[in-house]
Amino acid sequence: MGTAPNTVKNNNILSPPRPCVRYAFYMTSTTAKPRRSNGLAGPAAKGVDRVLISKTRLQRRVKELAAELSAEYAEGEVVCVGALNGVICFLADLVREMDIPAPVELVHVDRFIDERGHTVEMPNPFRESLRGRDVLIVEDIVDTGVTLKLLVDKVLAENPASVKVCTLLDKPAHREVDVQIDYVGFSIDPVFVVGYGLDYEGFYRNLPFVGVVDSAVWPPALLERPKFDS
Ligand code: IMP
Repeated sequence: MGTAPNTVKNNNILSPPRPCVRYAFYMTSTTAKPRRSNGLAGPAAKGVDRVLISKTRLQRRVKELAAELSAEYAEGEVVCVGALNGVICFLADLVREMDIPAPVELVHVDRFIDERGHTVEMPNPFRESLRGRDVLIVEDIVDTGVTLKLLVDKVLAENPASVKVCTLLDKPAHREVDVQIDYVGFSIDPVFVVGYGLDYEGFYRNLPFVGVVDSAVWPPALLERPKFDS
């Protein structure tokens, strides 16, 4: 497996959500409450305004990506490197849909702001040797690209046979660092999203869908940029 060119494949551009779909019921009945069958009703989703990507769409796209990756690495195996905690749901679902050997290597990335600005560090080395192996960096979301750049540099320093990148979500409008992504689940607008592993202040990771937090609940200024706690 060589270092093939990094091209974006199956980049699903999401169209803007239709406004107020779940209030349509009011137009036909004044007595019944609107049905919230999309998962927004439960306490875990408190403060989530709308579903951006449903559980069904996530499952379908993860299967598609897994099929493409299984074909890409059909000749051998691929080490899947993921940064905790945001990637937990996507990585777990992705590798279970792949039908090739796919060892998993999880790392911690510390994010903070110092005199250099938005800074990321990976405090612990990889436990698995990546030398001479095909490596797939699996990301939950690429925003500025700073975290992905760090991961790519760290993996390259281990002298792997090849490095490719697969992210569930991509926010290209926020990019500050030039990074190459080979597989993208969904390209989204620069909104702050939660669910399916992604958090806001530690919450919402266990939602089965990707949703947008209600800007009336959380001030928009806080949501424009991610908190560096994941
Ligand atoms: P980047 O370094 O700016 O690309 O940020 C990547 C990391 O920031 C992700 O791995 C997430 O942990 C976090 N992040 C970026 N955007 C969001 C979001 O919309 N929701 C939740 N976390 C986010």
